[in-house]
Amino acid sequence: MSTTDKNKAYPSVHEMSDEQRIGIVTDIFASVTDKYDFLNRFLSLRRDVSWRKRTVSEMNFFKTNKFLDVATGTGDLALDCAKAYPEVSVVGVDFVQEMIDKGLPKVVSDNLTDRVELKWGDGTDLEFEDESFDVTAISFGIRNIPDKVKALTEMRRVIAVGGQVMVLELTTPEPGFWRSVYSFYLNGVLPKLARLFTKNPAAYEYLADSIMNFPTRREFVKLMESIGLTECRAIPLTLGVCTLYIGKK
Ligand SMILES: C[S@@+](CC[C@H](N)C(=O)[O-])C[C@H]1O[C@@H](n2cnc3c(N)ncnc32)[C@H](O)[C@@H]1O
Repeated sequence: MSTTDKNKAYPSVHEMSDEQRIGIVTDIFASVTDKYDFLNRFLSLRRDVSWRKRTVSEMNFFKTNKFLDVATGTGDLALDCAKAYPEVSVVGVDFVQEMIDKGLPKVVSDNLTDRVELKWGDGTDLEFEDESFDVTAISFGIRNIPDKVKALTEMRRVIAVGGQVMVLELTTPEPGFWRSVYSFYLNGVLPKLARLFTKNPAAYEYLADSIMNFPTRREFVKLMESIGLTECRAIPLTLGVCTLYIGKK
């Protein structure tokens, strides 16, 4: 598949197999890398920055002083955490090397090479020993992982007892006025805007589709509970277009 095809189309998330979806996600993130940070800020009206900050503010370090950022992309959450907690060491993993390569210079320019490591890693098969971290989080990544139970189970495995699994994800507001406005933005406006800036506008059609098809807040909290996390809660952000989920081991 060419990554420069403005007419590329992906099947809807209902129609793709898990394997096909993993291939599509890899293709998308390898092709939007150049503009990824810019488009994130622009299309979310810089809300993504405050959502990550809110996530970091809920973190609790108590034993290992280590944080794992799963599906770290270009490392934003990893860097935000390291800046907020000077005692904490951070590892960020992502399975698209192009995203990691874009993040590494940010670690250098923020002078955080001694505490932040970004490297290749699959969120459904983490290389770390049990109970290696106090906190692990995934921001805007779980939506793209077909086997969410496997990813969450791995995240739970690598944190200490009493530690936190955090999931920050784009969601849809409750049915009503804001949901209609948001759905219009996601399906009508966003792909057109993205077409102006990216080589792969279909990536943003996939984005809309994957957000609309993400489990509801209640369903996702149940999923977290089903893998043994406790005190699970969902914090809606910005009228519910984003949700921060937190569970404890
Ligand atoms: C929308 S980006 C989010 C990046 C970053 N966390 C942020 O807050 O901007 C989603 C990332 O998830 C990564 N990803 C998807 N599935 C993955 C998996 N199974 N293991 C590791 N990374 C994965 C993609 O490569 C991509 O970089």
